[in-house]
Amino acid sequence: MTEHSKIPLPSGPGKGKSLFERAEDLFGFDAFAPAPPAELAGPAAVQPVRQAPPTAPDPEPADVSGKADEPGQAPQPAVPEAVSTAAVATAAPEAAEETIRFTGTPQRINRQHLADQALIQLDGRVTTLLEEFRIVKRQLLLAARAGRRNGGGASAQRVLVCSPLPGEGKTFCATNLALTMAAEKDGEVLLVDADFAKPSVLSALGLSGGRGLMDALADPSIPIEECVIATDIPGLYVLPAGNQTSSDSEYLSSAHTGDVLDRLTQGAPNRMVIFDSPPALAASPAAELAKYVGQALVVARADITGQSALEDALSLLSACPDIKLLLNAAHFSPSGRRFGSYYGYGE
Ligand SMILES: Nc1ncnc2c1ncn2[C@@H]1O[C@H](COP(=O)(O)OP(=O)(O)O)[C@@H](O)[C@H]1O
Ligand SMILES: [Mg+2]
Repeated sequence: MTEHSKIPLPSGPGKGKSLFERAEDLFGFDAFAPAPPAELAGPAAVQPVRQAPPTAPDPEPADVSGKADEPGQAPQPAVPEAVSTAAVATAAPEAAEETIRFTGTPQRINRQHLADQALIQLDGRVTTLLEEFRIVKRQLLLAARAGRRNGGGASAQRVLVCSPLPGEGKTFCATNLALTMAAEKDGEVLLVDADFAKPSVLSALGLSGGRGLMDALADPSIPIEECVIATDIPGLYVLPAGNQTSSDSEYLSSAHTGDVLDRLTQGAPNRMVIFDSPPALAASPAAELAKYVGQALVVARADITGQSALEDALSLLSACPDIKLLLNAAHFSPSGRRFGSYYGYGE
């Protein structure tokens, strides 16, 4: 049986520690420096659980798109990037291939609908929530770029956003991450609803959809790119979950799946693919999807996600080479100060 107790509150010397620090005491996660500042109700930090061994620092700009970030961005924490120039030199050259583009008529995303769900706003205001997801984005892009240079191929461009159970913020974090990544200059992002049993990305963004990932997996005659929805937010694309089958996991584990997913980034090295996963402990597709992604972001909801559930989820996702933890909806700041005021931005 899975124990769903909360991560115990500390007493004695651990009293006053953040959930991350408490979790690190329990799980022995690697130290990660510098610690990103925390925020009210947003993702408090990203903590790597397992990472590829570090190599020489990358002398080039750290952006997967190779361009500077949007104006007004706060300075990001200096994170050493695991890239080796030797690895770049010896990486297998990629065959010239047709670029897969998503050419459907863009659907409009209602900005008020985003606001109603506390999602990131696109009105140009720099909010604390936006700043936090920019930090998460930057860390994922750094690792994605390193993964590609180290021969990770298309999977380096894929991120699985997962958590042990429903309601912990997978869709909230995956959607905010996609909105933030879409702002990358010359970069684009495809948000894939991979929660086949309870898809919610389309409703979160107020989009209407048709065929999706599971349809393309079940029927090889359906080109996956034709299922992708373009939006009026530049650089943001969405792939619906499609019709659920009784064999979702079997389709995901079939040999055909790798080829279908590869088409999503074919000829587009600056395109990131974010999978909004089903809960790892409630549905088997999460573990299957972990085999195809270079990184997994495991969402733990502050003071809700249980220790054993988190451990079980991490073990189910073990096929993924780089697992990071993201603490969602924290109501404390480990540093004792507000992120927004620290960087001089308003709420
Ligand atoms: N940090 C947050 N701030 C505000 N609302 C949140 C936050 N995280 C999650 N929610 C809300 O909690 C609910 C469950 O989150 P959701 O992302 O749908 O969970 P999951 O996808 O893991 O089932 C949603 O209504 C979502 O908008
Ligand atoms: Mg969800």
